Amino acid sequence: MKKITHAVIPVAGFGTRMLPLSKSVPKELLPLGNRPAIHYVVEEAIAAGIKHIVLVGHAQKSAIENYFDINAELDNQLRHKGKDALADSLNWLPEDVTVSMIRQGQPLGLGHAVLAARPIIGEHDFAVLLPDVVLDPFTGDMTADNLAFMLNAFADDAHSQILVEQVADEDVHKYGIAQLNEAFSDTSDVDEADLNASFKVAGFVEKPNLADAPSRLAVVGRYVFSNNIFDYLANTTASVGGEIQLTDAIDALISQHGVDVTTMRGDSYDAGDMRSYMQAFIYFAQQQLANKE
Ligand code: G1P
Repeated sequence: MKKITHAVIPVAGFGTRMLPLSKSVPKELLPLGNRPAIHYVVEEAIAAGIKHIVLVGHAQKSAIENYFDINAELDNQLRHKGKDALADSLNWLPEDVTVSMIRQGQPLGLGHAVLAARPIIGEHDFAVLLPDVVLDPFTGDMTADNLAFMLNAFADDAHSQILVEQVADEDVHKYGIAQLNEAFSDTSDVDEADLNASFKVAGFVEKPNLADAPSRLAVVGRYVFSNNIFDYLANTTASVGGEIQLTDAIDALISQHGVDVTTMRGDSYDAGDMRSYMQAFIYFAQQQLANKE
């Protein structure tokens, strides 16, 4: 069994849908309740067993790397004032977990950003977590369970895994949409499912019009890849939006190796879009106020 311990979190986007909030603060550091959005995503990865996290960013994103490092001056200051518990709470990253950052160079798309992590990931298979999407961390253990399920499924059959969730018609144009094989094409009840389920997938369409969408199953932003996705990414040319799309490399991978989609349990929140971000903020804040966090 191959255990995956590496994950890539692309953080190179400018967050234009989050302006003016994201003008001088990376959108990944905007709060959801009492923590920055990316805090929950990193916790999710760690809870699923990830030990090495690679952030792919650019010069304006170094504050994210600092968030996961120890601020020695602040640490000393707090301990000097007897606030050891507060200082300890800031150093929550487990000792066996590393967070490193690499730069994307040119902003050529999500596929290009994932490829930029190759020098650190090397020969390992790896997970990708898109930090715009935050899974509900307040309902049971479901958050990490989704990624853990995908990691186990990969360990069993070495097929890359992609998490999907049923979305409303008006949201289809915002996501990569899965085309299932005919045998599984009736997805009408997947949103009711309380278990993860895996299906073979025939392909993906990136941000289709509703009329062209092959299903309502949207890519949520959690992937588990065999290392050879890097070879496909290296051969992928720009398409939708003039960008090198991860979705196109996945389509090439499907045709030669087979890829599975996993249906999501629990709820997801899109923190990359102003309206849904505000809804997510309210939900996270309400939960934390109720839990007296
Ligand atoms: C990306 C992916 C898309 C996926 C989405 C999830 O798009 O390309 O397939 O559904 O993330 O958030 P982006 O939102 O970065 O444009």
